[in-house]
Amino acid sequence: MSDKVYSYGKQTIDEQDIAAVVEVLKSDWLTQGQTVSNFENALAEKFGSSYAAVASSGTGTLHLIAKALGWSKDDIIITSPITFLASANCAVYVGATPDFVDIDSSSYTIDPNKLEDKLKSYLHQNKKVKAVVAVDYGGHPCDWIALKTLQTKYGFQLVNDFCHALGAEYKNDIKYAVKYADAVNLSFHPVKHITTGEGGAILSNDSNFDKKIKSLRTHGMIKDENVLIEKNNGPWYYEMHEPGFNYRLTDMQCALGLSQLKKLDLFLEKRRKIAEYYNQALKDDNRLIIPSVSENVNHAYHLYALQIKFDSLSVSKKEFFARLKAKRILGQVHYIPVHLQPFYKNNFGFKFGDFPIAERFYAFEISIPMYPTLEEEDLNYISSTIIQTLNECE
Ligand SMILES: Cc1ncc(COP(=O)(O)O)c(C=O)c1O
Repeated sequence: MSDKVYSYGKQTIDEQDIAAVVEVLKSDWLTQGQTVSNFENALAEKFGSSYAAVASSGTGTLHLIAKALGWSKDDIIITSPITFLASANCAVYVGATPDFVDIDSSSYTIDPNKLEDKLKSYLHQNKKVKAVVAVDYGGHPCDWIALKTLQTKYGFQLVNDFCHALGAEYKNDIKYAVKYADAVNLSFHPVKHITTGEGGAILSNDSNFDKKIKSLRTHGMIKDENVLIEKNNGPWYYEMHEPGFNYRLTDMQCALGLSQLKKLDLFLEKRRKIAEYYNQALKDDNRLIIPSVSENVNHAYHLYALQIKFDSLSVSKKEFFARLKAKRILGQVHYIPVHLQPFYKNNFGFKFGDFPIAERFYAFEISIPMYPTLEEEDLNYISSTIIQTLNECE
């Protein structure tokens, strides 16, 4: 009997990746060298942006975006409740006010109609929303045409938290993200499509914004002659106009990222085949809801977000998780709606019932194993074990 344990996601590292990192380890530059810009150029090319700036995590990049877009106290920043904490926390880091808009019940991304209702209600209170952080949840692009239309009408900044969606296509376009959003945020955490261990990047088409990000990620230091306030005293000279951070990504990590990026298309092909397998195996079971894919979308399947109608089973979600774990399947839940975190309830007054679609999705959702090295026998085991466990819980 196999003793394989199936987590919901994990990295795929091969000998080429290892050799690429070793090469940098033997070179003169472990950080702030040429491999950083090589990785940035490759990301910009792959996703069609004029600029790319890497940083130490997808959380650091959101913080940098918040700073570079000038968010501050009393600015209202809207995101989806079904996302990782960082998509909302970035507003809090800069003293802005986070708010949420419920998800669409089939794409699980922010609902543009509800967003418009919220924008209108703020306008009635003479308030303007500064930015919307829309999340391409699980690898499914948001309704970007609708979001862009709202941006034109109401004039807010639009950020794509694209951490789940590397390689997704919107209207047959893998380079869609930067065409709709002012800033696009990536993460290279090991469960994501490509990894650098920890890491992130920001894509944009705005040279000044990119320069600002690149300065803020390294303490706010500026060397560019054209923007110095005082006299350039020599080759060592730099100025700081506002304090930044150390959010740099190393050359070792960028070497891994470059090597991984070359395999993104293969990883995507594998992920889509896995999703197709699960779809076929699980679609006819009326206790389950498989992820749906909107027209104009090619899903990138960072997650396979299965919904189980726990309200019609005899056991709780907690018990169901324990039973799967005993059979070596370690599911995960994406996500506990962010507005239900004690911090958001206590500081901003959110409560259960505020975003019912997101809350119901949370009650049902379980992310089942999705990573490129899963083979047919693994998928057969995982899907049949889910159905068998459901049968035990009737
Ligand atoms: C949607 C989303 N945004 C931001 C992040 C933060 O990325 P990181 O883990 O690289 O800090 C994550 C990571 O899980 C994420 O899923």
